Amino acid sequence: MAYETIIVEIEDHVALIKLNRPDALNALNAQLMTELCKALKEAQANDKVRCVILTGSEKAFAAGADIKMMSEKGFVDVFSEDLFGPESDAIMSIRKPIVAAVSGYALGGGCELAMMCDFIIASDTAKFGQPEINLGVMAGLGGSQRLTRFIGKSKAMDMNLTGRFMDADEAERSGLVSRVVPVKKLMEEARSVAEKIAEKSMITTMAIKESVNRSYETTLREGLLFERRVFHSLFATEDQSEGMAAFVEKREPQFRDK
Ligand code: HXC
Repeated sequence: MAYETIIVEIEDHVALIKLNRPDALNALNAQLMTELCKALKEAQANDKVRCVILTGSEKAFAAGADIKMMSEKGFVDVFSEDLFGPESDAIMSIRKPIVAAVSGYALGGGCELAMMCDFIIASDTAKFGQPEINLGVMAGLGGSQRLTRFIGKSKAMDMNLTGRFMDADEAERSGLVSRVVPVKKLMEEARSVAEKIAEKSMITTMAIKESVNRSYETTLREGLLFERRVFHSLFATEDQSEGMAAFVEKREPQFRDK
């Protein structure tokens, strides 16, 4: 499928989705969000794909929702179309792991899109921010909710109320990103992480994604019960027998997603 605002490459079980609106620092417009959702659904349906990397350019992962597009809209427009709500629900419904590889600006909707991924690997040039306050609005895709859960109230308030940018070191210290690498090594690192995930049993991978994400939706008690039951259920899989047998026999496991 040919896209205009993203580039998709599938290699060795990894789908690389690159946001590609260089003239607008990958600002998220309706076409880009539609194409991104389509590509993710295709990755979900493609048995060859076992992990997705979402990235942008060296200068910008994404500098936010497209301000030129939004500047022409009023309340009735954004409320009626539920601006980017269905798209963010669609992204969150993808069951395969999605790793965000972030270099440069990840601002507003760009930061929020990165947070919709399962984890973020940042280059040392990455800059995160929720600067919507400077436009007379506020975060609309998780910047006041996911960000608060990821980095805590004080920093989330600071980011949202001042609109300041957070560099990669602070983002790692705060728990927003899982690791920081030199900018020239970002894609190599993301690919090696994605290939490592792709070697695992897809049943286990999806179960883990579902369980970690459940922790944001429920109480600790219910979450622990959910985790325990999913853990138990994995004992019904051939991959559990294989994984444990391989350990005992001191060999590499051959997972078959069964
Ligand atoms: C549309 C954008 C854009 C955006 C950059 N561009 N960000 N266009 N929407 N969010 C365009 C610029 O207009 C310019 O095009 C080109 O990209 C390069 O940007 P410059 O500003 O010239 O680059 P630079 O000086 O390096 O500054 C980079 C920057 C700045 C700091 C990232 O572009 C910036 O502040 N961008 C806006 C960031 C922002 O406020 N994001 C939040 C958006 S609201 P032209 O053609 O003019 O030269 C949001 C809400 C989400 O995300 C919720 C939705 C439901």
